[in-house]
Amino acid sequence: MDLFEFGENQQDTHPAESRVAELQKLIRHYDALYYDEGVSEVSDKEYDLLFRELESLEKKHPELRDPNSPTQRVGGSVLSKFESIQHAVPMLSIDDYFDNEEMHTFYQRLQKGTASENVAVTIEPKIDGVAASVLYRDGKLVYCATRGDGSRGDDVTANARTIKSLPQVLENAPPVLEVRGEIFMTFASFESINASLEAQGKALLANPRNATAGTLKQLDSGKVAQRPLSFLAHGIGAYEGPEIETEHAFRQLLKDLKIPHNQPIWEASSAEEMITAVEQLDVERHQLPHATDGAVIKVTNFNLRRTLGATARAPRWAGAFKYPPEQKETQLTGITVQVGRTGALTPVAELRPVHVSGTTVSRATLHNEDEIQRKDIRIDDYVMIEKAGEIIPSVVKVLTEKRELSSVPFSFFDHLKGKCPSCEGDISREDGFTAWKCTNFNCPAQAGTKITHFASRKALDLNGLGESVAIRLVDTQLASSMLDIFSLQHHELADLELDPAKMQDGTLSKPRKFGSKRAQSLIDSLESAKSNMPLEKWIYALGIDHVGESAAREIARLVDSLYAIPESPIFSQLVSVTDLKTERQQISPRNKSNPPKDDAEKFTRQNQYDQLSQRIKEHEAFLEPYAVSSELGYVSTRSLLAFFHSDAGKSILARFKELGIGPASTNYAPLPSENSELIFTGKTFVITGTLSKPRPEFKKIIETLGGKVSGSVSKNTDYLLSGEGGGSKYTKAESLSVPILDEEAFTTLIG
Ligand code: IVH
Repeated sequence: MDLFEFGENQQDTHPAESRVAELQKLIRHYDALYYDEGVSEVSDKEYDLLFRELESLEKKHPELRDPNSPTQRVGGSVLSKFESIQHAVPMLSIDDYFDNEEMHTFYQRLQKGTASENVAVTIEPKIDGVAASVLYRDGKLVYCATRGDGSRGDDVTANARTIKSLPQVLENAPPVLEVRGEIFMTFASFESINASLEAQGKALLANPRNATAGTLKQLDSGKVAQRPLSFLAHGIGAYEGPEIETEHAFRQLLKDLKIPHNQPIWEASSAEEMITAVEQLDVERHQLPHATDGAVIKVTNFNLRRTLGATARAPRWAGAFKYPPEQKETQLTGITVQVGRTGALTPVAELRPVHVSGTTVSRATLHNEDEIQRKDIRIDDYVMIEKAGEIIPSVVKVLTEKRELSSVPFSFFDHLKGKCPSCEGDISREDGFTAWKCTNFNCPAQAGTKITHFASRKALDLNGLGESVAIRLVDTQLASSMLDIFSLQHHELADLELDPAKMQDGTLSKPRKFGSKRAQSLIDSLESAKSNMPLEKWIYALGIDHVGESAAREIARLVDSLYAIPESPIFSQLVSVTDLKTERQQISPRNKSNPPKDDAEKFTRQNQYDQLSQRIKEHEAFLEPYAVSSELGYVSTRSLLAFFHSDAGKSILARFKELGIGPASTNYAPLPSENSELIFTGKTFVITGTLSKPRPEFKKIIETLGGKVSGSVSKNTDYLLSGEGGGSKYTKAESLSVPILDEEAFTTLIG
């Protein structure tokens, strides 16, 4: 067949195909002009029309879909994980230099390695972003991968397509071109995202680099498209095409292909020139729209680069000078304290606003009380602040010479008058911890976290109750603690307005509702949790400090019900053993840090020591048969008891009772009794009807007394325990002449 004719035919029978190609080309052209040179040849409206025409043609003709079409930049794919990609050429690191002396040594090595006096080098900004590698084959973007471990990285192609300035199709491109560069967020984008997060009352992003890394890790590229990322090329990986001889030729190639590349650039051919350029860059870099943390120096000539080669870690032809973090002086006008979602109290310095490394800074973290004391930071002090690696600024030191005479040291406890700034609850700082915490179990700042934890998969696994819903429930005052969710009505949940989502065009969506279906599903899972979730899950769900999953499992092995925890001698004795041992260690006459004064004291202390040893022995003898696992340690047990003995704990237990919740332990291991003949040994029970306590409690009693509980009545049933409304089981038991016990008879029987 004549190829030309075939082509013509194709055109006639597929007008859509040629129009799609034409539209793609036009849009690409406008995009390149806009992102490369900042000019628009068409109005937004015209552009929009073309874009929509392309979208609709692609929708109608799925066979014409192309991953490199401009329409694919809005994202939409949702991955379950990132595939990994083997880099064609390893992505090496770069050696860092921190002062002029080190730079001289670096330059001397270049001179030696190339056997020349004047080695031409370029100097360019080191962008503080996330390294990426973009592969083009025959001018088409094939993939974009992160650095990973240098030899394999994550395939983040879908996310990279949302970067509008990164071309997906190149014209007049070499057969293979792998471009290395940096993905980053400009200060402007970063600040606008944070402004919108702040407006929504959400946690702010720490710095542009973290924001970039977090965004790239998103599996949903639609979400990535809402966070404007940028790309700048600075190097080359795999390459097939006409030989590139110098950095300049490489940059010319990037320019011709309209690939955005890193600027500005300096040239030098001596150590002195190089250092001058690095210093000049330090001045100019603050004008750049993105974060930089150093200068990268590269040998200009590619042949010389090959001569110099690389170690396993880094090329010998490149080096990075790291600028020290920028510091600024300002006044600390106050110290506010934020209550974290776990109740941790974090002091924050309020500062007179100053401009540091590209952003305006008006607050700095003070970490914790120890940090404040170590640096002796006081309100009204003049301080030096610094943004290390553009992270949240910190206070480096106090300019004590500027301090007023009237200044007083800062005391965390006094500043807060001992109360949580969110709920006025008492605050405390546990031994060995740096953070003060709000101890109020019902602190509203923590309610969202507590409810989220309560509902989480490892806890009660409640359908649809994630963090954002939990926070809305708290904000709308539908719930102020975890047990409140059991009283929620279907309509209250269904009508709950969720946070508006941010749309692709930056506007917020109409308020969405939780909805009837999800409401029912949550209510069903609450009901199901009430009768099916085992005790250990409930214990874990309470979110008691230091009581994790394994501790909860061990607790549930040691008691048969939630209600037994506060009075169980097992836990109090576990705590006692450790307390007594600490005391014994203290008073030991052999304690080197506290030796007895004389023989008399030695004698009394030895006596006390023996008495304590005796008590420890008794406790240990009591505990021995329970073989308590080390998963339940001293700290967890103390925290468990403190919780159940606190007002909050007592009221939670009372609420559990009111709600009729009495979870059963699935792994309760009661001690084998000495006289093993129990009254229900070998007896099978069936339970029916409404009783005064939840059924699992009766089940526990029967099992503890040696019996078994079965679900249906048969001729093998020994007793039916029946409350009001025994139903079909009751009738069946009657017909089989199975003895029927009401609750009173049952109680009498067990004595
Ligand atoms: S050239 C073989 N130039 O810094 C290494 N790297 O520590 C040559 N980086 O992960 C790297 N800005 O992604 C080069 N202008 C720049 C850079 C730059 C940032 C990153 C790079 C790499 C890291 C090396």
